Amino acid sequence: MNILFASSEVAPFIKTGGLADVAGSLPKALAAMGNDVRVILPLYEGISQDWRSQMTYLCNFHVHLAWRTPYCGIFELQRDGVTYYFVDNEYYFKRSQIYGHYDDGERFAFFSRAIIETPGHIGFWPDVIHCNDWQTALVPIYLLEERHVVPELRGAKSVYTIHNIEYQGRYGSQVLKDLLGLAPGYFNEHMLEYHGDVNLMKGAIYAADYVTTVSPTYAQELQYAFYAHGLEGVVADNRNKIRGILNGIDTELYNPANGNGLAAAFNPDDLAGKQACKAALQQACGLNQDPDAPIIACISRLVKHKGFDLVTSSIHDIMSMHNVQMVVLGTGDWNYEEAFRHAAAQYPGRFAAHMMYSASLSTAIYGGADLFLMPSEAEPCGLSQMIAMRYGTVPVVRETGGLKDTVWPYNKFTGQGRGFTFANISAHDMMWVLHEAVDLYHNNPKAWRGLMHAGMTADFSWNKSADEYLEIYGWITGK
Ligand code: GLC
Repeated sequence: MNILFASSEVAPFIKTGGLADVAGSLPKALAAMGNDVRVILPLYEGISQDWRSQMTYLCNFHVHLAWRTPYCGIFELQRDGVTYYFVDNEYYFKRSQIYGHYDDGERFAFFSRAIIETPGHIGFWPDVIHCNDWQTALVPIYLLEERHVVPELRGAKSVYTIHNIEYQGRYGSQVLKDLLGLAPGYFNEHMLEYHGDVNLMKGAIYAADYVTTVSPTYAQELQYAFYAHGLEGVVADNRNKIRGILNGIDTELYNPANGNGLAAAFNPDDLAGKQACKAALQQACGLNQDPDAPIIACISRLVKHKGFDLVTSSIHDIMSMHNVQMVVLGTGDWNYEEAFRHAAAQYPGRFAAHMMYSASLSTAIYGGADLFLMPSEAEPCGLSQMIAMRYGTVPVVRETGGLKDTVWPYNKFTGQGRGFTFANISAHDMMWVLHEAVDLYHNNPKAWRGLMHAGMTADFSWNKSADEYLEIYGWITGK
């Protein structure tokens, strides 16, 4: 099967969130299963010289964007059995931030046209074009047109994956003709039209041959307005072709047994190294050296839907639990950053606030912490709870989206489970299970080791989910 995977960010080249991790690991898994997989992404300024020096120039052409035809260069890089195409246009992509510009709509419309036109210039004809989130939502729509124009694309099908329905790509209706170059017929309620505007994600849900989202529970939740952010009707209308498939993680990259980035390696049957990681973390973060203090960690973008109202309103309750230490890593909304900085000043030696993004510190935290707190209001899948479990850091999560599908609650009667969960968006409910968790940590080391072991030995690889994607590709292409 020929698969063209399109994403606005791909690890390890450029990353702001979980989408990049998925785009960096799912194609690899599909390629390992014998498919010809090519990944296409923009050549942003932030992509390092080191990567650029490994690329080769392939071709250039002019894409068709309404009444303009901007330049598009294609650079190629091979890695782990996958071919990567980088779309070059310095006007659109030579900027310090990858998102957040006044012309993002135009930038990603350009990228989407480049995706649809690249096959013709490189002679790779995809059976499936797999697109992700609002930035590549136009591709399934362009494909409807292109199938009539380019004979080689006649059989090509599209899959569209929703990683987060909150960001939909909504613009004024004039963009249809002025920017996107689409006929007025696309501006209807069963395609791009949404309350008088153009909504790219809505269009993709209607236009794609199949739609997936990143966990079975999130797929269910999307029928409710709270989770679907106005698209619940669109989801209901298309439910026959929507399915939730749980993300995997790169289990090579996130593997405590190889010791990468850790003070010491460890594995489910030999946890001695985890103690060394904990001591190193306490040292690095200025926390008291105390092997018996449970360290609660948060690693996240600091935004409301990650549940930080629950965390910041409970800081003093958390810190009043017996001998607890806490470390928070991330950047985001100013009010949360301030609350954590304040806590660090108030609890010296017990609370560490690192208001920044750091891959190396995050590995040290996954390796050295005891509990991972992730009380998201909504979480399409969530990867950090899986990474935490790989490193024997026991998660405490709200039962939503992928958190519900990956963190099975501890049962004190049978000893089974992988972590602690609560149902409602309530700081009280969160504190209730945090108390349970911290009590277990202090008073029942054997049960605690059982929890660590269950998380560390769980299968979070792509094996099963990559099969499910292939099954879908098979249905829609008949191959
Ligand atoms: C988004 C979602 C997150 C998911 C990731 C990868 O970042 O917010 O829950 O894990 O995409 O699909």
